[in-house]
Amino acid sequence: MSTSTGDQEFPWHEVASRDQLDPDFPVGVEVNGQKLGLFLVGDEVHALEDVCPHAYALLSQGFQEDGVIECPLHAARFDIATGKCLVEIGQRDLHCYPTRVQEGRVQVQIPIMKVAA
Ligand code: FES
Repeated sequence: MSTSTGDQEFPWHEVASRDQLDPDFPVGVEVNGQKLGLFLVGDEVHALEDVCPHAYALLSQGFQEDGVIECPLHAARFDIATGKCLVEIGQRDLHCYPTRVQEGRVQVQIPIMKVAA
């Protein structure tokens, strides 16, 4: 569950406590039905789409090392800071979302999807 604040089209969603994050163990969260992975690299928190583009596996359940996340199913690898796909099986780069930490809480900025009438 998350709470949103700020700009209407690009609201910030509170998704976790900063203390929950560990450089060796990503955290999976869900915002408005969208699965995101939270990754700690150094002091920086990164938020990426969590479902691997190759098939259905959650990258937040993968193996994180040296700023790279490896998919737990078929070992696609992605750069956590940029979302760049590093192994062909991953098929494409991941979407990255802006993050910030306020008063120990991690917030992620996710644009509101507009549906055409
Ligand atoms: S599901 Fe991630 S590499 Fe296949």
